[in-house]
Amino acid sequence: MKKLIIAAVLAGVSLSASAADTIRFATEAGYAPFEFVDSNNQIQGFDIDLANAMCKEMQATCTFTNQSFDSLIPSLKFRRIDAVISGMDITAERLKQVAFTNAYYDNSAIFFAQKGKFADLAALKGKRVGIQNGTTHQKFLMDKHSEITAVPYDSYQNAVLDLKNGRIDAVFGDTAVVQEFLKKNPNLSTVGDKITDQSYFGSGLGIAVRQNNTELLGKMNDALAKVRQDGTYKALYTKWFQQ
Ligand code: ARG
Repeated sequence: MKKLIIAAVLAGVSLSASAADTIRFATEAGYAPFEFVDSNNQIQGFDIDLANAMCKEMQATCTFTNQSFDSLIPSLKFRRIDAVISGMDITAERLKQVAFTNAYYDNSAIFFAQKGKFADLAALKGKRVGIQNGTTHQKFLMDKHSEITAVPYDSYQNAVLDLKNGRIDAVFGDTAVVQEFLKKNPNLSTVGDKITDQSYFGSGLGIAVRQNNTELLGKMNDALAKVRQDGTYKALYTKWFQQ
């Protein structure tokens, strides 16, 4: 086998088929239940299970690395990775830089704070609200709520820590992630309604690949359709969002 590969290399035969067998994913794994690092230091979550199911379908080996959210798209463009799965909203702005698979999850965003402290969004006027750097939440706050002070964090958990010890007044994030925090923190609760404004929060979550990587994009969309069809998607959805 080794000889054959060497022969192929010497003959200048492209090995792209075998190179495509490894797909390097990156994520920011501080965003349960989409992605988080477990007590064994393994990256886990709905996104990881979904990507692995798709990789099985594509007969590819997938690797996952954990890095800051705002570095994900740059890493993709610089070819350090091949794909991003990170609870990432498919937005018009991001589509100028990367391509996305079909949506795999209907997303929305919501604020949360100490229970009973703020009756509605208007009550957050002049308050400090934590958001993660590079997210749609950050952009939405900057553009639509200049009366609120956006406090940027690299990790969402640090924002929640600061909320708990009173350094900030609220945190803004994706609904499923907020629900996960609320489960563990009964003295926190949501403020206002879910926000789905498509011009900010896009048309669902997608996996990002480089714009010129149409081959991988096609394979991923096929694999996604397949795991939806054979019940795998449904099982993962139940496992991570309905327990
Ligand atoms: N859905 C938001 C966005 O696309 C936030 C995603 C943050 N994800 C993460 N893994 N930290 O901007």
